[in-house]
Amino acid sequence: MTNRRKRVLSGTQPTGRLHIGHLVGALRNYVALQAENDCFYCIVDWHALTSMYSDTSRLQDYVTEVAAGYLASGVDPEKSVIFVQSDVKEHAELHLLLSMMTPLGWLERVPTYKEKKAQMKDKDLSNYGFLGYPVLQTADIIIYKANLVPVGEDQLYHLELAREIVRRFHHLTGSMIFPEPQAKLTVAKRVPGLDGRKMSKSYGNSIYLEDTEEEITKKISTMVTDTRRVRRTDPGEPEDCPVFALHRIFSTETEQADCAAGCRSAGIGCFDCKKVLIRHVLEEVLPVGERIRKLKEDGDYLKDVLNAGAGKAREVAAATMDEVRAAMNLKGR
Ligand code: TRP
Ligand code: SF4
Repeated sequence: MTNRRKRVLSGTQPTGRLHIGHLVGALRNYVALQAENDCFYCIVDWHALTSMYSDTSRLQDYVTEVAAGYLASGVDPEKSVIFVQSDVKEHAELHLLLSMMTPLGWLERVPTYKEKKAQMKDKDLSNYGFLGYPVLQTADIIIYKANLVPVGEDQLYHLELAREIVRRFHHLTGSMIFPEPQAKLTVAKRVPGLDGRKMSKSYGNSIYLEDTEEEITKKISTMVTDTRRVRRTDPGEPEDCPVFALHRIFSTETEQADCAAGCRSAGIGCFDCKKVLIRHVLEEVLPVGERIRKLKEDGDYLKDVLNAGAGKAREVAAATMDEVRAAMNLKGR
């Protein structure tokens, strides 16, 4: 049989607590991929610093949070390499070398760059590091010669840029070292938050993996619905309802069909509809939250996992860097 295993790399920024958007947008995918591929799952603390540089006091808590979230949702340290970016200094060296050959115009054109800068008014993102964010991301990916990168839709441009940087590296050095990494889109592309906008810590509209039963129940009960359903007797349109978008992610197909029909005919009220969703969210999220809490209590275990992961990652990264240095004539001795 041919060996179809591919290299997979993905990263999560340790910028806060994990929410169900992380779970269905990334973590479920990480777990699915690890059975048949060689996976590297990174906690990208340097990336977090591109926007969090002015207050790093919680950084270690958030690193722990992401590590615990990976393990709690089923990423298995026996199968996948789980590590912290700053533990593998080679990422920084490759970032530096790639930055020499990346035209500024490519970076200024990145849509997430302009959007985030405009959105995050409370933060000054006119720093050099933030502009170079996608170059560092490219280094994360290609230093492991990854073929596949599980990400959400918002990362597609970064992946395109990564491929362009790879092509430029090959063209300029004449050394074909890296595969061109492809995005592996998650099925649930966009997870709506409680207010219908994308779920995000900065919007305060999230259901966190460590929320209690009461918190989750309350959050979904008060979540916005299709605005047509002002009264119980007003019919609604599930496609315009963020609650229904969560049904698509958490509920069975029969339940989705029943809720959609009941919504359109005003046969059910929003509360009936939400009750079904609440049951499923609790079923999936509470055990994950419980495991996260336990893992955080046992800090030594997490440290061991991250140290072992860093060791394995370093080996691969160091071998790639030998090739890169040779390709750029940085090693003549
Ligand atoms: N930019 C990614 C995000 O915000 C995080 C990230 C950093 C990443 N390095 C990566 C994702 C490498 C995939 C691969 O979600
Ligand atoms: Fe949304 Fe369900 Fe209410 Fe319809 S019945 S508006 S799908 S919560």
